Amino acid sequence: MQSTNKLYENNVVAPVLVVFGITGDLAKKKLLPAIYRLLKDDLLPKETVILGLTRQNLGSKDILTNTEICINEADGICDPKAMKKLKDRLQILQIDISKLGEFKKLKTALDQIDKNSGQKLNHLYYMSVPPNVTENIVGELGKHGLNKDNSRLLIEKPFGFDYKSAKKLIKVISKFFNEDQIFRIDHYLAKETVQNILIFRYNNIFEKVWNGANISEVIITANEKLDIEGRKVFYEETGALRDLIQSHLLMLLAVTILDLPDKMTSQKLHRAKLKALESISPVTHSDIKKNAIRGQYEGYREEVENPNSHIDTFAALKLNVSTKRWHKVNFILRTGKALNEKLTTVEVKFKPNQEGLQNNNLIFRIQPHEGIKLTMLIKEPGFNKKTKAADLDLNYRDEKIDVTHPDAYERVLVDAVKGDHSLFSTSSEILASWKIVEDVVQEWTSNSNNLLYYKKGSSGPDVTSLIE
Ligand code: BG6
Repeated sequence: MQSTNKLYENNVVAPVLVVFGITGDLAKKKLLPAIYRLLKDDLLPKETVILGLTRQNLGSKDILTNTEICINEADGICDPKAMKKLKDRLQILQIDISKLGEFKKLKTALDQIDKNSGQKLNHLYYMSVPPNVTENIVGELGKHGLNKDNSRLLIEKPFGFDYKSAKKLIKVISKFFNEDQIFRIDHYLAKETVQNILIFRYNNIFEKVWNGANISEVIITANEKLDIEGRKVFYEETGALRDLIQSHLLMLLAVTILDLPDKMTSQKLHRAKLKALESISPVTHSDIKKNAIRGQYEGYREEVENPNSHIDTFAALKLNVSTKRWHKVNFILRTGKALNEKLTTVEVKFKPNQEGLQNNNLIFRIQPHEGIKLTMLIKEPGFNKKTKAADLDLNYRDEKIDVTHPDAYERVLVDAVKGDHSLFSTSSEILASWKIVEDVVQEWTSNSNNLLYYKKGSSGPDVTSLIE
């Protein structure tokens, strides 16, 4: 097991993690459980404080009841000692951020925390709020001098609602925070198995065939069993395309197609990722009918109490990459809510050999049952000459490695405390990814053409027309 000593440089300054949106779904399900696990394994600097902001009159006990339920659901157990650590570190500040002058309260609370700990802690502002609210908060932080060098901004997706709003958000934030202080979260990049796609690609035997001469199609799937889970307002403003494709799935695609840098430094990785994203041809208005499919699960409209909603709870896109390396390869991205399974995979289909025999198939299973499966052609045992497909199957969790498998949010927090930008998105990457889906976002927002309906618990709309 790793300890704090090994994770951080000696001079790392402990953070005050200021959470905007502490009562939200994300804090309850992902952020607070991740902090709990880090505290359990002693992986946060000793003096770390969590400061949750809410306009409601709530105490840490109220906040943590729901978190405990989520930890129990996810881990099957909730360690009372670690829970106590979390409770001891969590402070709640009642504040109405929409009211002028309220940020003074935050400044006073932060000064007090510094005073109690006898040092100037790093302020890590965690924005788990809609993009327009982020804009206001950032402005207020700036006005109250809370944007100084020892502060960092951690911003949840979606970063903007479309290209234009993302650009505006970038501009507003850059007035108060410089790029080094900003950490734009895409938690898929922080998943162990996504990082492993890159490491896998450094195996020379695969990198040599990693191109359109050998690969015919790449299918990236993120199916979810869960429906929108009551997140009515958020989902009505977002939809599957914005929620998963513009962010998580395009990042997965970038990691799959980028030109591997000679070294995996943050700067080189970002350069390669941006180049990859910029090489993906945007789906234009005229391509939408042919290359994009959207669906909505039955019962969604009743759930959000909007009988006319044409929000997509399922989205699939066919994309092309304009480089020589990926010439004529089909890239399919698909995701949906309320489907029959939770499954995230990147499937790389190789072309058949000269005799047209069995295709090799390589599947990165991002979740669950993280692993890599390579389908190969082998001789069927016996006196005949028959061949058959067999799998080389690596189960990531079976590997006897003496460390825990950090959850993506644990990784996000540790890297933000360290100040390591490698697994976060730059503003240029965000803009490049919005550009790819911009026309589809516009068209799907403006009309309900070709919206397909599917049953909850089914496999969703048929996307075979996209797949070769
Ligand atoms: C979030 C989306 O970014 O990712 C959610 O907003 C989605 O709608 C979630 O459910 C999926 O994350 P994971 O890690 O459970 O696959």
